[in-house]
Amino acid sequence: MASPDELLALARDVAREAADLVTERRRHGVEVADTKSSPTDVVTEVDHAAEELIRKRLLEARPGDGFVGEEGAADTSASGITWVVDPIDGTVNFVYGIPQYAVSIAARRGDEVVAGVVVDVVKGECFTATRGGGAHLDGRPVQVRGVVPLAQRLVFTGFSYERDTRVAQAAAVRELLGRVRDVRRLGSAALDLCYLACGRADAYVEEGLHDWDLAAGGLILEEAGGRVGEATGAGGKRCIVAAPAGGFDEFMTAVEDCGFLAS
Ligand code: IPD
Repeated sequence: MASPDELLALARDVAREAADLVTERRRHGVEVADTKSSPTDVVTEVDHAAEELIRKRLLEARPGDGFVGEEGAADTSASGITWVVDPIDGTVNFVYGIPQYAVSIAARRGDEVVAGVVVDVVKGECFTATRGGGAHLDGRPVQVRGVVPLAQRLVFTGFSYERDTRVAQAAAVRELLGRVRDVRRLGSAALDLCYLACGRADAYVEEGLHDWDLAAGGLILEEAGGRVGEATGAGGKRCIVAAPAGGFDEFMTAVEDCGFLAS
């Protein structure tokens, strides 16, 4: 049975190769190829090409593994390991040329993520973790920030591609803004979680994430001393709430009070 370190080594190599492909293809221009859950939820040919490369490399190296990709590729697992992949997390940023998008690859054994890597395509930062093995940025250990009062916390969030959900999110963010240091919407959930893991923010809340947005970044954050929780959001979808473990409960209470969650 492959160890989490072996799975991570493979995932890291493949994520870097995919990041190179994304960089190279962007030089030739980017066209929106299709839309998904709504007209604002876009996908490009590069998302498809990167997912196909990642799937090919992982399954060539480990035939029998399962695969779940944002762009629709799916294979069931015979080995017990399933790869959960977002080929470009932050596709809208990618389309506009905003340098905040990433390749995210996680290895799941059963229901538990055991290894994860997020590679920032433009900056080249490589965030990694194995379960029980800590979280790293470019090979150096990372830790969440120390807990500060709610009013001094910088919070990452994101908005759904679906109108009704994002209207509910906006109302909750308006409430939250009066209680915290500030709010940022950077456009890549995977990078938000990794940034939180290395102390670049104090909390994160977003409704509507999928497994591929969350799998690698969630493990990286937990291994850095964060806690990741979920509840049903005001729009009826899964709402992810995350913070340094010691400040989680207070942030969760604020999230509830501000109206992020279903009542
Ligand atoms: C999106 C990004 C964004 C978040 C959305 C995600 P995609 O992923 O992570 O920050 O707000 O919920 O769907 O579509 O660019 O892979």
